[in-house]
Amino acid sequence: MEKKFKRTTVTSALPYANGPVHIGHLAGVYVPADIYVRYLRLKKEDVLFIGGSDEHGVPITIRARKEGITPQDVVDRYHNLIKESFKNFGISFDVYSRTTSETHHKVASNFFRTLYDKGEFLEKSSEQYYDEEAKTFLADRYITGECPHCHAEGAYGDQCEKCGTSLSPTDLINPKSAISGSAPVMRETKHWYLPLDKHESWLRQWILEDHKEWRNNVYGQCKSWLDMGLQPRAVSRDLDWGIPVPVEGAEGKVLYVWFDAPIGYISNTKELLPDTWETWWKDPETRLVHFIGKDNIVFHCIVFPAMLKAEGSYILPDNVPSNEFLNLEGDKISTSRNWAVWLHEYLVDFPGKQDVLRYVLTANAPETKDNDFTWKDFQARNNNELVAVYGNFVNRALQLTQKYYDGVVPAAGELTDYDRETLDEFKDVKQKVEELLNAFKFRDAQKEAMNLARIGNKYIADSEPWKVIKTDPERVKTIINISLQLTANLAIAFEPFLPFSSERLRGMLNMATFEWEQLGRTDLLTPGHQLNKPDLLFDKIEDDAIEAQIQRLADIKKANEAAAYKANPIKSTIAFEDFEKLDIRVGTVLECCAVPKMKKLLQFKIADGLENRTIVSGIAQHYAPEQLVGKQVLFIANLAPRQFKNGLVSEGMILSAMNVDETLSVATVDRPVAPGSEVC
Ligand code: 2FM
Ligand code: ZN
Repeated sequence: MEKKFKRTTVTSALPYANGPVHIGHLAGVYVPADIYVRYLRLKKEDVLFIGGSDEHGVPITIRARKEGITPQDVVDRYHNLIKESFKNFGISFDVYSRTTSETHHKVASNFFRTLYDKGEFLEKSSEQYYDEEAKTFLADRYITGECPHCHAEGAYGDQCEKCGTSLSPTDLINPKSAISGSAPVMRETKHWYLPLDKHESWLRQWILEDHKEWRNNVYGQCKSWLDMGLQPRAVSRDLDWGIPVPVEGAEGKVLYVWFDAPIGYISNTKELLPDTWETWWKDPETRLVHFIGKDNIVFHCIVFPAMLKAEGSYILPDNVPSNEFLNLEGDKISTSRNWAVWLHEYLVDFPGKQDVLRYVLTANAPETKDNDFTWKDFQARNNNELVAVYGNFVNRALQLTQKYYDGVVPAAGELTDYDRETLDEFKDVKQKVEELLNAFKFRDAQKEAMNLARIGNKYIADSEPWKVIKTDPERVKTIINISLQLTANLAIAFEPFLPFSSERLRGMLNMATFEWEQLGRTDLLTPGHQLNKPDLLFDKIEDDAIEAQIQRLADIKKANEAAAYKANPIKSTIAFEDFEKLDIRVGTVLECCAVPKMKKLLQFKIADGLENRTIVSGIAQHYAPEQLVGKQVLFIANLAPRQFKNGLVSEGMILSAMNVDETLSVATVDRPVAPGSEVC
């Protein structure tokens, strides 16, 4: 039976404050969460939207060390940038705080202490790597060494980035501390563990039996964790950045970031509502919903619920709508490789186009599988959907009202069958959008809203008011009235998805607000109501803006490849006399042409200071012949002539450098020299 709730607490994953936020964050978590919250608010439900930055954990300390600043400096910088980006994109949090806040330190510390006092933890000692020079235990990321699988150097204690294998620090060959460079030693250390194995049986019942309605990806991941059998998980770490473990004798130990981060949702609620926060976390009539990305599923569906249950006074999540990942132009988004579209940069390149990105990310949301963001798709969805369908319809309706009625809403006369069919088509839009949003199907819900604009476009195109005005001006009043009612419906239907555009559209319609309850009605604008001057709701995005973004990504890819490039090992040593046997010369390219039927080859006539010579070189895929004429190139002059299949003979070899991406670059001289000059 459907449970009836009085209010909803919506949380969205707290992003790590060690880098700016990108489109993957927006698509995976914040846009769907914001759509949902806006929708509930429009329905006048009691809802709280909790956000904040996750400011602890090892990656933040690594970044600080690299930059020679403190972890606090790192999180201050990114917390502010992230908060600003969310605000700019209309992510309408009720609170956006941070896990370095005083409130959070207290709440998380007390939470740990309650579990500790109730005997909910296991205390266990184990051997871990310790850096004797730096006098500190080493987090997995702080230990590097040779990967036991692919033998790459520089693999981390938790993963080899070269072959992707998950590792334990003790798997590494020749481990080294990333702090001092010395070889770490094993030393005993004590930690507190949450005995997940003890929670397994109620978790099985609660997820696998009582929450079959959770999304397949979420349910499936939980099932496979549960089927593997849960193990105790350490909830403390030896680190000097985080919330100190509030237990005597725990000096130098902090709460594991994944223990304190979800408690951040509670702390941020308490910061906003110091007197009533408990209603939002402890009243069984409150519904808790966590919006997260797929890498967070186990923490929100298994670990955090086990913590809440162990504490005893909290409610558990009712749903955890998790998205899969969004890739960028076919590759995984990566902060460290700069392979992302950063929100703050997007706004510089596309000012005022927040809703375009919101629209595209929802239309292409990775709800059931990983999806790909491409700039071409972004342009196509803007130009073919927002501009050509939504914007075009609204603009026609509003412009015609200006033209024929000075912007005053005309009264409808008698309806034709076609009018009635059109009105019928959109009368159940509210029910459809609601059903989809209630089921967290944001893509499909947005499609329903867009469908209203398609109905409107077809209606106005079929009704041809610009023709009918000459023969039957009374009829045009009805057409325009219906078109304006549809326009007002669009402003409501798109409100959760495209809040900036809905606000502008309301402005053009001269309506301060609409009620969600009015969606689907045909009397939203009363005859005689004066509209404001219309403006274009969306504009076309031109090719050059898109090409610039594609070029930027190509440059990043090149830079990444160059940074990752490791030159081939040097060949075995040769005697000087062997080198002297090579006769390398400079020649001037007199002629250069393609070789028929040999796609890779170019044929050169080279001035060599003697009788000139023909050289054939396999660089046709890297240069057009005319690019090389006049260039001075290096060539091996005493290589035995080589004959090609087609009878062509090459009298030497032109030297080229092979780049990381396997493109060839011809070796030339820095200053002009006489053809035939020897290279020594
Ligand atoms: O994956 C992440 O980006 C984590 N910082 C999410 C934390 S969610 C919650 F627990 F705070
Ligand atoms: Zn490896």
